[in-house]
Amino acid sequence: MDLLVTGVAGFIGSHLAERLLKEGFQVIGLDSFLDYYPKKIKENNLKGLVSDNKFTFIEGSIFELNLKEILKRVDAIFHQAAIPGVRASWGKEFNKYIENNILGTQVLLEACKDAKIKKFIYASSSSVYGDADELPIKETSATKPVSPYGVSKLAGEHLATLYYKGYDISTVSLRYFTVYGPRQRPDMGFHKFITAILLEKEIEIYGTGDQTRDFTFIDDVVEANLQAFIKGKNGDVYNVGGGSRIALIEVIKIIEEIVGRKAILKYVEHQRGDAQHTYADISKAKRDFGYTPRVDIYEGLKRHYDWLKENLDVYR
Ligand code: UGA
Repeated sequence: MDLLVTGVAGFIGSHLAERLLKEGFQVIGLDSFLDYYPKKIKENNLKGLVSDNKFTFIEGSIFELNLKEILKRVDAIFHQAAIPGVRASWGKEFNKYIENNILGTQVLLEACKDAKIKKFIYASSSSVYGDADELPIKETSATKPVSPYGVSKLAGEHLATLYYKGYDISTVSLRYFTVYGPRQRPDMGFHKFITAILLEKEIEIYGTGDQTRDFTFIDDVVEANLQAFIKGKNGDVYNVGGGSRIALIEVIKIIEEIVGRKAILKYVEHQRGDAQHTYADISKAKRDFGYTPRVDIYEGLKRHYDWLKENLDVYR
């Protein structure tokens, strides 16, 4: 069975592809190396994949590749490709979010109409909720994004559901909650915090530091993808949280303990687009496909730190 992972050179895509290969699948990985962060980091993400003869890498954009030809060999798609980043999605930048997150998803779904795709897993985001009215957040909670990025991911999700209803494409959307671990994107919180403490630099805390996130370790997100691939209900959406809801300031304390050094904190203003709290109700994913996060925040941060300490040069 051939599986396609879009955005394969990214943080989540690369881990997911590695796991699928381990499970014995043939994997085709697509990536266009969008310049949201440096190519050398993405090439490093691909290192564990390119030597595997069950892996085929295709460099190119969804808009330019011959999708019809590629999809002939593909049984299922894990659509991870996107412009990420909540706080960077304002202003002129939003064009890129429309193009890659909305139009890119639609073009891929269109191509699926003429192909025999058994499952299409769409990487959605907790950012579709914005500032939730109720905690923990259920899939039925209101979707009121507070960032343009969240708007774009929500539109992509709606498209996935529409193509299920209109064309019977077996789509499932997974709403990831702030994912972390080895190879986390360099613009994300934990990457910046661990790096700053290691290099004895300042950490900028946005707002008060009291904001909470349901941080999710990368291996749990990968597991959720595999489970949803087998058992996820078509046309449905699922929360994928880590079961580690914690305030940002508490995270800093854990990192200080792991690294054995105090952080230098600088408080700056709350950033436009940031939700105050996220906290996933994951009972639906548990019920439908047995999802249970395994890695708690302490263990996850330790693994993230151990990896980053050895790989700091990639990010400099
Ligand atoms: C993350 C990802 O970046 C999004 O792509 C993803 O869609 C989203 O999770 C999600 O859950 O769907 P975010 O929660 O903002 O977004 O993740 P981080 O960048 O790791 O930030 C976590 C927290 O740390 C936020 O409260 C942020 O304000 C704070 N932060 C981040 C700082 O205080 N300082 C920094 O330098 C970076």
